[in-house]
Amino acid sequence: MLIRPVVRLFRCPLVVLSLLAALLQPGRDAEAYTILTPPPQPGVIIQARRPAATMVIRVTDPAEEKKLRVSAAGDGEQGREINPSGSWRLPQGLFVHYRLELHRGSNTFVVDPGGRKLVIRHRPVRTLGSVDFEDPAAYVFHRRAVVPPACAGCHGKQRPAGSAAARERFAADPAYAPLCFSCHRRLSSQEKWLHGPSANVLCLDCHRLGGRRTRVTVPSGRINELCFSCHVNKEKLLQKKFVHGPYAIGDCTVCHDPHGDAYKYQLWADGRADLCVGCHSDKKRSLKKSLGFFSHGIIEGSGCIACHDPHASDNRFQLYRPINRLCVSCHVGLQGIRKGHPVGNHPLQGVPDPRRKGREFACSSCHNPHGSRYRYLLIGDVLGGHVCSKCHH
Ligand code: HEC
Ligand code: HEC
Ligand code: HEC
Ligand code: HEC
Ligand code: HEC
Ligand code: HEC
Ligand code: HEC
Ligand code: HEC
Ligand code: HEC
Ligand code: HEC
Repeated sequence: MLIRPVVRLFRCPLVVLSLLAALLQPGRDAEAYTILTPPPQPGVIIQARRPAATMVIRVTDPAEEKKLRVSAAGDGEQGREINPSGSWRLPQGLFVHYRLELHRGSNTFVVDPGGRKLVIRHRPVRTLGSVDFEDPAAYVFHRRAVVPPACAGCHGKQRPAGSAAARERFAADPAYAPLCFSCHRRLSSQEKWLHGPSANVLCLDCHRLGGRRTRVTVPSGRINELCFSCHVNKEKLLQKKFVHGPYAIGDCTVCHDPHGDAYKYQLWADGRADLCVGCHSDKKRSLKKSLGFFSHGIIEGSGCIACHDPHASDNRFQLYRPINRLCVSCHVGLQGIRKGHPVGNHPLQGVPDPRRKGREFACSSCHNPHGSRYRYLLIGDVLGGHVCSKCHH
């Protein structure tokens, strides 16, 4: 095989010498290499869930190989050198692969020799569902081909030599796509929690090859139908009386990565609570007890999902049970009582809530389930009867 890796090309002292040489004769180097992707015109916009992009450079003149150097040129990282993730050779040159880490906004990279600038604007997105892939300004790698001619020499029908995609168990499945995996292996091998079909390289279960199999489609719009095609029992949840906002509009991937992610159930944050406050930022304070704030003991351990279903339920706010029954399922001392707490014959349900129009009286009329400045998670101080006077004048 012609393909062979070039290891640690840049650790060699010769690099320094050759860079000096390059400085002495700058004009010559411009033709020595080609940036194959991303397109090197300035300000290309990359919209992605993961803050990274692939760069591939072809070096045609063997004498120039050792001079190639890519570095970041943003604020505070001036000159940080980026090591290639791999280099492979064909007769038409050496193909040096890089993985560029991106941050929101403008990212500048410099390719030497020649000091060519590459400016990439990164717009982080939580889901690609809303990205307009038809927009000519957007960077879409597979706009014209699954494998552009420049890459086809190695990423072809066969996966490249030495490929890590060896899950032959599924080789007979029509969705099995080791070709995709040869470029996108990071999607489903770097993460701790993998989604079954992606881990098994069954990419074509979800991605389609459109227009004479020349393009890859990103499932977009209402993603849920795709998910329901396998997770059939999840479709019924749409019939529930209270469906969580993102679930109702079919945005499963705003929480779950279809390939894999760092947290259980392929979530981008701990699904018990961190995920929730990622959007419901007003509840961030509820996670922990702090000075002058009483948290609800249950949240620190079991999280928001101790009470709320992340998808849907028949109770308002997607609670597992009606409020009072939910509370007493843990606070068993109050189980079965309809009145008599905190004083005498005080009602606990079945009357209107004087403070909240249209709501029935419940435990949460007096207690804030998410925490409070006052003891016992109350809406006011017991001392001085301040809590009572919220309703009784
Ligand atoms: C000379 C052969 C060759 C050419 C040409 C080539 N690649 Fe690769 N590429 C490889 C090999 C070999 C791997 C490692 C595959 C594996 O481990 O499964 C690889 C891996 C990759 C990866 C994964 C890298 C990583 O670090 O996760 C990406 C992305 C990639 N190639 C993109 C491209 C693109 C885009 C092109 C065309 C512009 C291209 N390659 C051209 C040989 C090549
Ligand atoms: C030659 C390498 C290569 C192969 C083979 C490949 N991809 Fe890609 N793909 C890329 C690169 C490079 C990007 C741009 C994102 C990046 O830089 O990581 C990309 C982007 C994508 C995107 C985002 C939308 C877009 O077009 O930019 C999807 C979806 C995708 N690939 C799916 C697939 C699937 C499914 C397959 C198999 C049918 C596949 N890819 C095969 C290299 C490859
Ligand atoms: C369970 C369905 C499913 C499977 C299986 C799947 N994908 Fe995807 N993929 C999606 C969806 C849905 C999106 C759009 C995600 C979003 O909303 O952001 C996507 C997006 C992508 C993207 C865009 C960038 C990103 O980081 O999310 C790439 C690249 C990609 N898929 C490659 C692959 C490859 C390669 C495989 C096989 C190893 C694969 N997919 C398997 C459903 C799937
Ligand atoms: C091609 C069929 C298929 C599609 C399409 C599919 N899944 Fe899955 N999903 C699976 C399989 C198989 C498993 C592994 C089941 C197991 O291990 O019990 C799984 C597991 C999961 C799990 C983890 C469940 C658990 O109990 O650990 C989640 C979460 C999930 N999928 C979400 C999604 C989402 C969101 C979508 C849509 C983007 C989706 N799936 C699309 C087949 C699919
Ligand atoms: C708001 C974020 C969010 C959205 C949107 C979301 N999920 Fe989930 N999903 C979660 C969390 C959190 C869990 C873990 C629940 C737990 O630990 O009990 C979960 C668990 C799951 C599981 C595995 C456990 C189970 O309940 O069977 C599947 C499968 C699943 N989700 C599918 C989907 C599908 C399909 C969609 C879209 C129709 C979707 N999810 C939308 C947050 C979300
Ligand atoms: C991707 C962002 C996102 C994440 C993550 C998220 N939510 Fe939501 N949530 C929403 C949106 C959007 C609504 C709908 C808001 C509206 O209708 O006013 C909503 C509504 C709710 C409601 C009903 C609010 C009301 O006034 O009716 C509750 C309760 C809720 N979310 C709890 C949770 C919990 C618990 C989690 C974690 C498992 C979570 N959310 C994760 C976006 C999110
Ligand atoms: C002990 C049970 C419980 C836990 C744990 C819990 N909630 Fe709630 N949540 C409730 C109840 C009960 C309501 C209805 C309150 C009412 O009557 O107004 C509610 C209402 C909500 C609402 C809608 C009204 C509002 O206050 O904005 C949102 C959003 C919400 N919860 C998010 C969360 C998030 C995020 C977490 C985790 C940080 C969480 N909840 C943890 C019980 C709980
Ligand atoms: C899933 C179990 C669970 C549910 C449901 C639950 N709690 Fe709690 N609650 C706890 C735990 C655990 C503590 C912490 C106990 C401790 O610190 O001794 C706690 C503490 C409290 C406290 C403070 C007690 C004290 O002595 O300071 C109050 C008040 C309270 N909960 C009210 C409620 C109300 C009202 C509801 C319904 C909206 C509710 N709880 C639902 C588990 C739960
Ligand atoms: C009318 C307002 C009000 C309502 C409604 C109410 N509480 Fe209370 N709750 C209080 C007050 C006031 C205290 C403090 C009692 C004290 O100082 O002895 C308290 C204390 C508590 C405590 C901590 C002390 C203890 O007894 O363990 C828990 C737990 C509790 N309530 C749970 C509930 C539950 C569960 C409900 C619904 C079934 C509920 N409360 C409904 C006002 C209320
Ligand atoms: C969230 C509003 C609210 C708070 C706070 C509240 N109450 Fe009430 N209280 C009510 C409602 C509603 C009734 C029933 C009134 C009715 O039936 O017309 C009631 C009834 C009563 C009754 C009459 C019970 C009976 O025997 O019929 C007493 C006594 C009472 N409250 C004392 C208190 C005291 C003491 C506190 C403070 C610890 C307090 N309440 C806090 C709403 C509240």
